[in-house]
Amino acid sequence: MALLKIAKIGHPLLRQVARELNVAELLLPETQRFIDDLIETMRDANGLGLAAPQVFRSLSVVAIEGRGRNPRYPDAPTIPMTVLVNPRFTFLSEEQEWGYEGCLSIDDLRANVPRSTRATVEALDRAGQPVRIEAEGFFAVVLQHEIDHLFGTLFVDRADPRTFTHQREYERYVLAAPAPHEEGA
Ligand code: NI
Repeated sequence: MALLKIAKIGHPLLRQVARELNVAELLLPETQRFIDDLIETMRDANGLGLAAPQVFRSLSVVAIEGRGRNPRYPDAPTIPMTVLVNPRFTFLSEEQEWGYEGCLSIDDLRANVPRSTRATVEALDRAGQPVRIEAEGFFAVVLQHEIDHLFGTLFVDRADPRTFTHQREYERYVLAAPAPHEEGA
C-alpha cells in the first residue's frame, strides 16, 4: 500500500465531475489496490472521508470512516469503514442543520455549512454489490461532503462565507464555545 498525495483547492481536478466505474474495472487488482491506498491515505491524514479526486484520480469512489479520537474532529461519532462506488443520493431531507466542516484539500479552513439531516445513498460497494445507505446526523453530513467532491463541489461553495475561520481561531472561538444546550440554566 502507499500514501497518496492530496490535491489542494485550486487544482482543476477538484472541480471536475468524477467518472463512474463499471464493475469489471472496479474488480481489477489495480483498482482494488487504489481503494486500499485511498483508505490508508485517509487514515494517515486523520480524515473522516476522502474522495478519489482528492488524490488526483477522477473516479467516482469515496471512503468514509470515523474511528473516534480523531484529532481533527475530536467530537465525531464512530462511522464504520464505508467505501462507495458511483454513489448517488436518492433522498435528501429538506430539513437542514448547520455545522462546521473542514477538508483535507483546504488547509486550515473551517466554515459553517448547511446540510440535510437525513440522506439516502445508492451505490456499489468495493466488491461491486449494490448497497443502499440511510444515514442521519453526522454520517449524513460526511456523505454529503464526500459525494460533493465527486461532482466538483467543495464545502466552501455551500458555506456561509462570513463564517470562514482559520483552524487556530476555530479551536479558540468555535470548539471552545459552549454548546447551545449547555448555555443558561
Ligand atoms: Ni473534503
